[in-house]
Amino acid sequence: MSSDLETRALSRPWFYPFKLPSGATTPSYDGGWLDGIHHTRSAMLDIALRARFGNDFSQRNAVDLACHQGWFSVQLAQLGFRDVLSVDARSEHIADATLIRDTLTLPQMRLLQSDVHALDTAALGAFDVCLCLGLIYHLENPVGALRVARALTRHVCLVETQVVPNMSGMVDYGSYKFVRALQGSFGIIDEIDDTHGPEASTTGICLVPSTEALCWIMRKIGFSRVEVLPVPADGYEQLLHGKRVMVAGYVD
Ligand SMILES: C[S@@+](CC[C@H](N)C(=O)[O-])C[C@H]1O[C@@H](n2cnc3c(N)ncnc32)[C@H](O)[C@@H]1O
Repeated sequence: MSSDLETRALSRPWFYPFKLPSGATTPSYDGGWLDGIHHTRSAMLDIALRARFGNDFSQRNAVDLACHQGWFSVQLAQLGFRDVLSVDARSEHIADATLIRDTLTLPQMRLLQSDVHALDTAALGAFDVCLCLGLIYHLENPVGALRVARALTRHVCLVETQVVPNMSGMVDYGSYKFVRALQGSFGIIDEIDDTHGPEASTTGICLVPSTEALCWIMRKIGFSRVEVLPVPADGYEQLLHGKRVMVAGYVD
């Protein structure tokens, strides 16, 4: 027997294949074409969290930056996190994540509509886990967003992103007498005509880091240890081939 909430959830396509209490799964975009990327990232997140915290999450809290419809927030709530703050810039995602939260009866999920850059990190405090998945390559200020993520992280921050090929080498920095090494690179992607899209940038100018740039920046802004997480052998092709990465930044 499905509830009225389930009936609502099942009546339209979602970005994610949510498993509902009756056992039914929400229909996802394009007949489930993207489900693989979500399942691979969930598996990687699960491994990273258990490696850091063991199997008891009951004393842990988390913030999910750019939560979209709440896929990873639901995962954390169902793992037993006591408090999960789910943040997204788009009101329609906050409404959808609220419907999913209520359908799944996960009162430990709190929803907040906000641009990541506008978050008051001092007021929010620190979270054991900070998720920053699928976000920074949609931003014109990815370093600023990573600083927000760092400020919100008590133990570990998971950053997952599309990456661009790296450039390395030496640069004559104002003069041949001042030579600096490149620490990584960013690529510019144009989403200016796509800002209406539910998964897209809100401003349209996107700076996509190389893996080397991302890891270097995460170290420089205060993560004491940074590692690119291994991808399961049956993982989504982009992660398997290093076109996207999930990076863990540890504070302690
Ligand atoms: C590709 S989706 C990724 C969603 C989810 N984290 C995931 O990995 O599946 C990008 C998300 O970032 C959100 N977003 C884009 N710019 C944002 C910003 N400046 N602040 C907060 N959220 C933003 C979008 O609304 C969308 O939900």
